[in-house]
Amino acid sequence: MITDLHLYARSLGMAGPDFKAELGTGKKMLDISQEINETLAGKLIQDREVRFVIVCGDLTKDGERENHLAMKKLLGQIEASGKQVFVVPGNHDINNFSARRFTGSGSEPVPPVSPAEFREIYSEFGYSQALYSDPASLSYVAEPVPGLWLFAMDSCTYELNNAKLPASTAGRFKPESIAWIEEKLAEAREKNKAVIGLLHHGILEHFSSQKKYFRDFVVDDWEAVSKMFAHYGMKMAFTGHCSAHNWQPGQFSSLTSYVKSLMQLFDGHLLSWIWDSYSSLKYLMVVKTGFGAVCPNPQSEPVLI
Ligand SMILES: [Fe+2]
Repeated sequence: MITDLHLYARSLGMAGPDFKAELGTGKKMLDISQEINETLAGKLIQDREVRFVIVCGDLTKDGERENHLAMKKLLGQIEASGKQVFVVPGNHDINNFSARRFTGSGSEPVPPVSPAEFREIYSEFGYSQALYSDPASLSYVAEPVPGLWLFAMDSCTYELNNAKLPASTAGRFKPESIAWIEEKLAEAREKNKAVIGLLHHGILEHFSSQKKYFRDFVVDDWEAVSKMFAHYGMKMAFTGHCSAHNWQPGQFSSLTSYVKSLMQLFDGHLLSWIWDSYSSLKYLMVVKTGFGAVCPNPQSEPVLI
């Protein structure tokens, strides 16, 4: 599982004061983003144990079409090595009016991608292999190996974006999409399929009151959503969005006799992770928020349920 790759292609420019300022505002390491992502793809290609790769969104810096096409090329190389790849969008990837290129003397807008273009660009990375596709979002169900259904779920709110505001970072499921997901989970249970989840936003709090203080990192109605997933036998979900590396168990067995447990792997920005290690900070399995605060009570070991 990889996430928050935030690819920035060299071809969009890396000169001038605006690019320097952009570099200083975040931890995405845009100047070596392409090298980092190429190295990652190379490692995945060489890893014989990897059978399929899931990508939990934020594939690009800010949804630039050119960056999506560069990511498509890298993911294509992984697939050419015999491994399947499955993606979902992140909040940076679609209808993002911050999409820009750097000209040396400044910066200028470049085309972002629409939901339909995202589906088309990543057709070979989930959408064309889908057993089912949600008509109301970019969610789908695939079967990467026989007996395992992958619920790739679109938790983004890109339909709220416009040129006057920064792209929406919030996560939620549309009512019709959550109904569709529940219908397919019920079918998976009926057919005795194992299920895992893949989405950009968290579906469990990774520290107390996360939804209250960092509301855009966890989907709306997360308690009901995660309980429903657990009810249908989903024992593991993979997410991205927040710069944290943490397994979070969700215990629901006390609520009803039939609700099972759900565990979520909450991964963080690939590039932030590397930045943190370059900065000699403790990074492995230490839970950090995107704002640099160490979360209370970090899980130091993966917890298996
Ligand atoms: Fe994100």
